[in-house]
Amino acid sequence: MRDDNFLKENNARHLWHPMGHPGEAQEHTPRIIKGAQGVHITDIDGHNAVDAVGGLWCVNLGYSNDVVKDAIAKQLYDLPYYSAFAGTTNPTAIEASWAVREFFADDGMERVFFTSGGSDSVETCLRLARQYHRLRGEPTRTKFLSLKKGYHGTHFGGASVNGNNRFRTAYEPLLPGVFHLPSPYTYRNPFHETDPAKLAQMIAQAMEDEIAFQGASTIAAFIMEPIQGAGGVIVPDPSFMGLMRDICDRHGILLISDEVITGFGRTGDWSGARHWGVQPDMMSTAKGITSGYFPVGAALMSGKVAEVFEHSDAEGAIFHGYTYSAHPVGAAAVTATLAETQRLDLKTIAAARGAQLYDGVLKLAETHGIIGDVRGGHGLMTGVEIVSDRAAKTPMDMATMKRIHQATYEAGAMVRLGMHNILMSPPLTITEAEVSTILTALDAGFRAA
Ligand SMILES: Cc1ncc(COP(=O)(O)O)c(C=O)c1O
Repeated sequence: MRDDNFLKENNARHLWHPMGHPGEAQEHTPRIIKGAQGVHITDIDGHNAVDAVGGLWCVNLGYSNDVVKDAIAKQLYDLPYYSAFAGTTNPTAIEASWAVREFFADDGMERVFFTSGGSDSVETCLRLARQYHRLRGEPTRTKFLSLKKGYHGTHFGGASVNGNNRFRTAYEPLLPGVFHLPSPYTYRNPFHETDPAKLAQMIAQAMEDEIAFQGASTIAAFIMEPIQGAGGVIVPDPSFMGLMRDICDRHGILLISDEVITGFGRTGDWSGARHWGVQPDMMSTAKGITSGYFPVGAALMSGKVAEVFEHSDAEGAIFHGYTYSAHPVGAAAVTATLAETQRLDLKTIAAARGAQLYDGVLKLAETHGIIGDVRGGHGLMTGVEIVSDRAAKTPMDMATMKRIHQATYEAGAMVRLGMHNILMSPPLTITEAEVSTILTALDAGFRAA
């Protein structure tokens, strides 16, 4: 490894960062994170902070899980790679598919298609949804419905169902035949409705109207996050996902639950859909599936979907996949991560520590007038919307947001900015004292504003 001077001199000189401006990164170079232990990260200057981001909503087990690290290291020596394209497989892939299916059995998931990450998993679900209808003799079902403010990754399909124009505009034209419904975002919505249950009903009606307008026989699937993550931690009314499930059933539309963030315990249950008492037809997963230790995702299929593929003629062959689908090292990471996730009962910790974080931020809102809205209360996903004028709900300017971010970091917690929202998704292994550190640091951050 080169010395720190080399690293600082070459920071962002050759590396283009996702979701950042390359020129800006060269001028204001990214913070270099050199190490991590437990839920703490350490930067190149030796500053230590609680990672309230969990890497990127993914390091559910924290940074020090030796069971997963050892499983990865061992597999590198046993078999570092072999293809899982039709005709060959490998032992860890077989074991991991069994473990993932077991993990999501109560969600009705029966089959696993491994990918390299969340965007791949979303893409896989969208493509297989179209193929499913074609196999059933309804090839006209090609359109997709999704929610505004949803985030579904950055592939062309995912960007098309994405509900935030920041991730769309520069890459248009995207997929035709994708239509967006309002988000269950009570703080701001076109109906000016602040009651979450009433808002859920209004969106359900908007969905019925859109289906009637498009024609149900043209729609393949509806995709949603059980709790919208990157869009600002938008928690719907408990009735919302069930209403969507019911509409999809009545119109023959597949329901894809995008569980890339919400899967594996983050919401306080093993999946976000289960948290709302819903069984989807497909699930896209990634992140917590390996706690971020290895890039893996998985698209999961219910029995209803699997049956159509498995009992079809040659048209049911899946001409879709990735070189690293069912990668043996990734698969070893999956099996070890799921075992650790269950052994440590991360969903229960997420529920308790999530409540502490949410209640703590609500308390901060009593003294900091710049806090416009606090969202969360369902596991360790918390969003704080910052405004310059509470009554007018004016979004805070980005210079102030950066000041809050910097001051919070200096006071001991790394948080994430999503425009004028502060987003938090710490490792699910976090302790009560570490959540308190985040809250104290946030207090300092808000004071700096
Ligand atoms: C709900 C959701 N879907 C898909 C993705 C894309 O995953 P990835 O960045 O691994 O491609 C993300 C990433 O944050 C996400 O939050």
